[in-house]
Amino acid sequence: MPTRILFVCLGNICRSPLAEALFKQKLDDHHVKHLFTADSAGTSDFHRGELPDTRTLKNAEKHGIEIQHLARQFTRRDFQNFDIIVTMDFSNRDNVLALAQTEADRLKVKMLLDYSPGHEGMEVPDPWFGGDEGFEQVFNLLNRATNDLLVNLIKEI
Ligand code: 4NP
Repeated sequence: MPTRILFVCLGNICRSPLAEALFKQKLDDHHVKHLFTADSAGTSDFHRGELPDTRTLKNAEKHGIEIQHLARQFTRRDFQNFDIIVTMDFSNRDNVLALAQTEADRLKVKMLLDYSPGHEGMEVPDPWFGGDEGFEQVFNLLNRATNDLLVNLIKEI
């Protein structure tokens, strides 16, 4: 049974759908597509059913990454459907933890950058209100951190 990874941000239109797409690319790069699945969700329902933000799509395309995802809201059921829930910032993490019902649920919730050497304890900033450079910064952070996450997970198998 593959390990099921869920990436979570606030809107599910900027950070987490890109993290999902990048992680899937790393699965290909490391030849481990059979060992993991990935999805993403937002803690809010602000953008339910929408494609990713056009700025995220454009920036990803510039780097040769295609994102195929429609925004959806994180729900309690996701604790059953996923093994690791990877959040982008402390607010996302706290919102997910608020829905946890068991200690096993709580233990599934991780911060993405805790897997990325030199970025432990840090957040993937929300690029929504800023300019294009914020989207590029987020891309670079996520590109590295999703690889660091996968390398960590492969070591644990
Ligand atoms: P995300 O970015 O959480 O990375 O998808 C945001 C998208 C939309 C909003 C906030 C953050 N919003 O307030 O609508």
